Amino acid sequence: MKTFILPINMFKVWPTMNHPALLLHGGAGSWRAPRGLIDEAVRVIGEAVEHGWRFIETGSAIEAVVESVSFMEDSGFLNAGSGSVLNIAGYRELDAGLMDGRSMRAGSVGGVKVTRNPIKLAKIVMDETDHVMLVGEGADRLAKARGLPELEEPSRRLLERYVEQLNKYRVGEYSFYLRNRAIAKELGLLDTVGAVALDRNGALASAVSTGGIWLKMPGRVGDSAIPGAGFYADMDAAIAATGVGEVIILSMASLRVALLVSQGYSIQKASELIVNWVTEKWGPGTIGLIGLSKRCEEAIAFNTEHILVSYKGPKGIFAKFL
Ligand code: GLY
Repeated sequence: MKTFILPINMFKVWPTMNHPALLLHGGAGSWRAPRGLIDEAVRVIGEAVEHGWRFIETGSAIEAVVESVSFMEDSGFLNAGSGSVLNIAGYRELDAGLMDGRSMRAGSVGGVKVTRNPIKLAKIVMDETDHVMLVGEGADRLAKARGLPELEEPSRRLLERYVEQLNKYRVGEYSFYLRNRAIAKELGLLDTVGAVALDRNGALASAVSTGGIWLKMPGRVGDSAIPGAGFYADMDAAIAATGVGEVIILSMASLRVALLVSQGYSIQKASELIVNWVTEKWGPGTIGLIGLSKRCEEAIAFNTEHILVSYKGPKGIFAKFL
């Protein structure tokens, strides 16, 4: 009888197949919207996870997070891309960033004004330049050179809401900003969109995109452009944040979660520890985190009133307003 002996290093060369997973957020905050609007937001983020999933099936984690986030940017409904809030001068300045856990490369853009999908521009920065971050006009010029579509004018609904809020709250361009965290809470807003993915080859990726804080100062850049703050991915974990950008930058929240996971904490425990620590230092209503680990465990933790999330993976599929 012929025996077939497997080479001893077979298990090393055999590619590891993982359960893929995709987890999205549509922002954390204190949204006090009518039930119909909340249902619409849940529908959008549910469609986004189905859309991103196609790229998990056929591509990679990084493609899945870019496609999920650009779907949400295009929805016009969440605070990113065409749905972005306006700054105090009445125009949009968008931030986005992403990180590939396997290569540990990242790309981000800050304060872009005319690019419809900042997350696609961030991917070009990562893939095609020697840099990590481009801001303002230089970033928009790269988008134009690479043929990315332009951001359309804000919707009438957004403009009407903007003028109403501006007239209500403005007390001077710069003193205003110091108050806008409290105002954002009073207005009841959700913030930022984000995605984390694990693909079949075990690669993790994270991406975020935002219009930033409602009525922010012109030139303000938030956590969504800062690797380690608004997003982070390595071989062990991928994390995407939402909340008050200044707090997330100061806390380097996404990086801190990844460091705890690399020390052996589960991703849910690590996320809860960081959210609790942020709450102690900077107060409630400041942060939401989503994450995935290489073991395909997911995490959702937040200290805001609400967070909008959707998921597809071994545990099934859901879209929820928590
Ligand atoms: N978290 C988004 C921002 O504050 O810009």
